[in-house]
Amino acid sequence: MTSLNNKVDVVSTLSSGIQVSETLEVFNLFPIPIGSFRLKRKLTKSEFKFIENLDKSLNEGNHSTKYSYILNDKKLKKLKEFFSICVNEYASRIMSMSSGTDLYITQSWANFTKTGEYHHKHEHPNSMVSGVFYVKTDAETDKIYFDRNEYRQIKPEVSEFNVYNSDSWWYQVQEGQLILFPSSLTHRVATIEKEGHERISLSFNTFPRGNLGTRESLTECILEEKIHNVK
Ligand SMILES: [Fe+2]
Repeated sequence: MTSLNNKVDVVSTLSSGIQVSETLEVFNLFPIPIGSFRLKRKLTKSEFKFIENLDKSLNEGNHSTKYSYILNDKKLKKLKEFFSICVNEYASRIMSMSSGTDLYITQSWANFTKTGEYHHKHEHPNSMVSGVFYVKTDAETDKIYFDRNEYRQIKPEVSEFNVYNSDSWWYQVQEGQLILFPSSLTHRVATIEKEGHERISLSFNTFPRGNLGTRESLTECILEEKIHNVK
């Protein structure tokens, strides 16, 4: 897998044998921003044990926690603060969300995927930006896959996959890494092949709060967070 540089030098040979060189400039229209942050410390034993020992229920191809507001627990308070800062950096720097509006964390849960298990293809409805934080991974083999859901009528064979011609793309993930992405983006985890491995990740959703839109343009929507006490 490679990405095209924004500028590519192209050399063509005309039928007369004369070589013509051109520069192809590529404008990336409407790209999808995948954000990546790193927690610059290890999880504390208390944080790790709390996540690892949460009650689990069967998901489609793996397990997830029964409780879906895990970041509301005081044992994960510092992690929740870190995630909130990161998601609002994403909102202000990438989405350029105006001051007066920010994103707050709604539901949060953990996923447990053992050898032979997978995490099915899905999106996160009723959320704006979603996050996955890696609690326990194998640095060499664990990946997250993102899928493009648009139907492509014409699919010629390609000599090399890139972000323009691929239907899916993966990124290697590591412990302490937080990946942020638009919640509508389809994602999944392929079957874990490494023997004796269990991958643990923590996922969360977000929603805007504050004043969206403007009164003058008839797009105003005043949203307040009412989730602090959800248990
Ligand atoms: Fe997800």
